[in-house]
Amino acid sequence: MVCLGNICRSPLAHGIMENLVKEKGLDWNVDSAGTGDWHIGSPPDKRSVAVAQNYGVDISAQCCRQFSIDDFDRFDRIYVMDRMNLRDVLAKASKEKHREKVRLLLNTEVVPDPYYEDGQFDMVYQMIEKGCRRIVEEELKTNS
Ligand code: 4NP
Repeated sequence: MVCLGNICRSPLAHGIMENLVKEKGLDWNVDSAGTGDWHIGSPPDKRSVAVAQNYGVDISAQCCRQFSIDDFDRFDRIYVMDRMNLRDVLAKASKEKHREKVRLLLNTEVVPDPYYEDGQFDMVYQMIEKGCRRIVEEELKTNS
């Protein structure tokens, strides 16, 4: 799960997907990262921690890291939140098999950056949850 800062959106996607994976008994390894380096080592933004808590998801122990080219080999899928993330991650991909792993979390829509807008966190949470549920359903369908 990748966004710009790895403190607002991708920590939510990371926590929501981890909970779904647990609920469904899947053996997926879920992680998150940011394309930017400003918040490396920081916990998620308090507003993301709070909104996740409202939905029973604990993301408080997460620690921000920057997306690295090793992630292309470490993960089968790389989900990004918006088109800037898409461009920034694809710019680091040197192989077609790496490019093929990168997708928008919401397929055709983007998850807006809520960093400067306190009022957007709940909506962002709901958008991300919907995206995560769709991914789990589609992956389970494809692999069944
Ligand atoms: P995120 O939000 O990409 O959802 O984690 C942001 C967090 C921090 C900044 C930008 C976006 N920033 O500019 O520091």
